[in-house]
Amino acid sequence: MQQDNHQIPRNLLITGGAGFIGSNFVYHWSKSYPKDRLVVLDALTYAGNRNTLVNLENNPQFKFVQGDICDRTLIDNLLESDNIDTVAHFAAESHVDRSILGPGAFVQTNVVGTFTLLEAFRQRWNQREQPQSHRFLHVSTDEVYGSLQADDPAFTETTPYTPNSPYSASKAGSDHLARAYFHTYGMPTIITNCSNNYGPFHFPEKLIPLTCINILLGKPLPVYGDGQNIRDWLYVEDHCRALDVVINRGTPGETYNVGGNNEVKNLDLVQQLCELMDELAPNLPVRPSKELITFVKDRAGHDRRYAIDASKIKRELGWSPQETVEGGLRRTVEWYLANQDWWQPLLSDEYKNYYDQVYA
Ligand code: NAD
Ligand code: DAU
Repeated sequence: MQQDNHQIPRNLLITGGAGFIGSNFVYHWSKSYPKDRLVVLDALTYAGNRNTLVNLENNPQFKFVQGDICDRTLIDNLLESDNIDTVAHFAAESHVDRSILGPGAFVQTNVVGTFTLLEAFRQRWNQREQPQSHRFLHVSTDEVYGSLQADDPAFTETTPYTPNSPYSASKAGSDHLARAYFHTYGMPTIITNCSNNYGPFHFPEKLIPLTCINILLGKPLPVYGDGQNIRDWLYVEDHCRALDVVINRGTPGETYNVGGNNEVKNLDLVQQLCELMDELAPNLPVRPSKELITFVKDRAGHDRRYAIDASKIKRELGWSPQETVEGGLRRTVEWYLANQDWWQPLLSDEYKNYYDQVYA
């Protein structure tokens, strides 16, 4: 197994740190390595939320900068002023349904933004004579591998890329750039391709938070197509632990698949959430909440099944998921019940407009 390369202190630039996984990662890192300096760069798009990071506002090791990863001057300045040695790159347009409605923003942020970060980091890394300890972690998705049939083996790191949505195609483009910067320039990039995450601070548009929130509001629970599509669910804390070992012990130039080994059909997942809500929520507008399940028009180009083979990261870096899907879903439902103040304000006019376009 690889040795731990954690340098104390690291100076991290965390892009997209006000989003779902980025914010969970910021909390994970700040707790695990309190001496490290954390600079969060986030454009605060509809998906970014400053309130999510409120518990770090008074931490002297934490700094928040609102800005765009496509802004090269800003990135150059941050890399220098904060002496950044490690980039954890989460910032992205992340929702498949939005990429179908408007792919342009996905190409801009996911491809051009990643390119801008890579170029800025390359310049700084060269100026500092290419230190061995520097890392550029590019956080990506299993969706770049395309869709599996029911009995296909799970995605490995050598599965050919066949992205099917504008979202996954733009992520694939950014993965290729990150990979090329290692092969061409020797820059210490590492790529992770992870399966579906869930847990606290997940924006309401995604299946699990959408289902929890709609149950609480007594609204229909939209299930695309026949509800038999399969996703491989990973509790977000487990993902953060995986990214931690990849930064500290991963080999530059490598790709690591990260997955929960929890394949669940969408309809089964929604039914489990209904049962948990029926058990845990005191006053539901509709009970049993399964009555709210509504089959709706399928997503265009909807991938049938994702499954990750995470044996490489287990074998080489000693990571495996700790949370079960039953335990993780219970924790998630409890979190959405206890944190209505976090999600209520996100049901904005922008969100309602988006919702009407997708579900009308
Ligand atoms: P998210 O949509 O919740 O958060 C994205 C964050 O990036 C937001 O805070 C947003 O404001 C910020 N952002 C968007 N455009 C920006 C720009 N141009 N400049 C600066 N900041 C910008 O996304 P997430 O679910 O937390 O995903 C984070 C990363 O992990 C993404 O790269 C995504 O592709 C990848 N990923 C997500 C999952 C998942 O299940 N959610 C699984 C695997 C990989
Ligand atoms: O696999 C990793 C990916 O997981 C990440 O790269 C993406 O950023 C993330 O958004 C997620 O993509 P999905 O499209 O799989 O997640 P979503 O929550 O949107 O949908 C999960 C499944 O549920 C998918 O098969 C579509 C279906 N679905 C989704 C919504 C929003 C429904 O049936 N109804 C819905 O209303």
